[in-house]
Amino acid sequence: MARLLITGGAGYVGSHCVKSLAAAGHECMVYDNLSRGHREFVKWGPLIEGDVRDAERLAQVFGAHAFEAVLHFAALAYVGESVLDPDRYRDVNETGTRTLLTAMRDAGVNRIVFSSTCSVYGKPETTPITERTPCKPMNPYGDTKLACERMMDDFDRGSGLRSVRLRYFNAAGADPEGELGEWHEPETHLIPLVLDAASGKREVVEIYGADFPTPDGTAIRDYVHVGDLADAHHRALNYLLHGGQTVALNLGTGRGVSVRQVIETAEKVTGRLVPSRTVGRRDGDPPELVADPGKAKTILDWSAGVGGIEQIIVDAWRWHKTRNQGTVGSHPAICRT
Ligand SMILES: NC(=O)c1ccc[n+]([C@@H]2O[C@H](COP(=O)([O-])OP(=O)(O)OC[C@H]3O[C@@H](n4cnc5c(N)ncnc54)[C@H](O)[C@@H]3O)[C@@H](O)[C@H]2O)c1
Repeated sequence: MARLLITGGAGYVGSHCVKSLAAAGHECMVYDNLSRGHREFVKWGPLIEGDVRDAERLAQVFGAHAFEAVLHFAALAYVGESVLDPDRYRDVNETGTRTLLTAMRDAGVNRIVFSSTCSVYGKPETTPITERTPCKPMNPYGDTKLACERMMDDFDRGSGLRSVRLRYFNAAGADPEGELGEWHEPETHLIPLVLDAASGKREVVEIYGADFPTPDGTAIRDYVHVGDLADAHHRALNYLLHGGQTVALNLGTGRGVSVRQVIETAEKVTGRLVPSRTVGRRDGDPPELVADPGKAKTILDWSAGVGGIEQIIVDAWRWHKTRNQGTVGSHPAICRT
């Protein structure tokens, strides 16, 4: 079993991965500045408070512990915010990653699993998206993630630092045991917003465009259960521990789900009406982003197995109710079932 440093392990995806890796016997140390994460999400190993841009702190941490690998989740991850404040994104995501990679190289730690994103592809001309689809990010967020991937190529060539870049599509769902879930502030992801509308925490959920060239006119995305992402990280880690070479892999289900389908499924799962309002499209929002996850199957023998959109929403709703105890049910929601 390995001793691991998990940057961003107090956040949504990172905390689910820590829980799963710790359950498999790995020793997980979380490194997080808590700017967007939650202290209460760090339950399966110690929390080291620190910033990924802090070279001195990282040198201290790598000097004190012999890590076999790093899982790097820490980042700023809002597309809209990155457009408004690109310099901050370059600083945290790119400078942070460069500082981390340098500290790893200096400490002789040469394996990293990196949280990349389908945003590196931008608005692809063909779907489903394979890893051969040209990377043309359309916003600073996607740009910074691609820059980090390229940085990792440099460290691979220069110092033999191997990386698995996991390009997640839309992470969604929650720990089936209800201990963890999606908790971003502010929240911008569709499923938590839909559940907020179902529970009355939010008046309405906005649909950005209903005139896309898709069967119901709303945008199609590939929602992958956070439990499946945790499983993929586990496999990526084992791959590297067994001498695997640097690789980029799409993590998605290969099945697209429209915004309207998400809303309908949420109404079915919660038994509540989800009030919605159609507004204009957001700049640069592609009609459809669906993964071809074939390469992750070939390299890691991974495929999304936890369940489809219904299971994702069942688990997310359980977490939503736990987190909002006392407020769910206060809205005069209309029961459809
Ligand atoms: N959620 C998604 O749908 C999705 C999709 C694709 C890729 N990703 C990537 O996955 C990773 C995790 O995403 P998430 O949704 O869990 O985000 P999150 O905001 O919940 O978690 C990010 C964590 O990183 C920490 N962090 C931020 N800046 C830091 C810094 N400078 N130093 C140390 N820690 C810092 C935050 O405190 C937080 O705990 C990110 O890298 C994101 O870009 C997420």
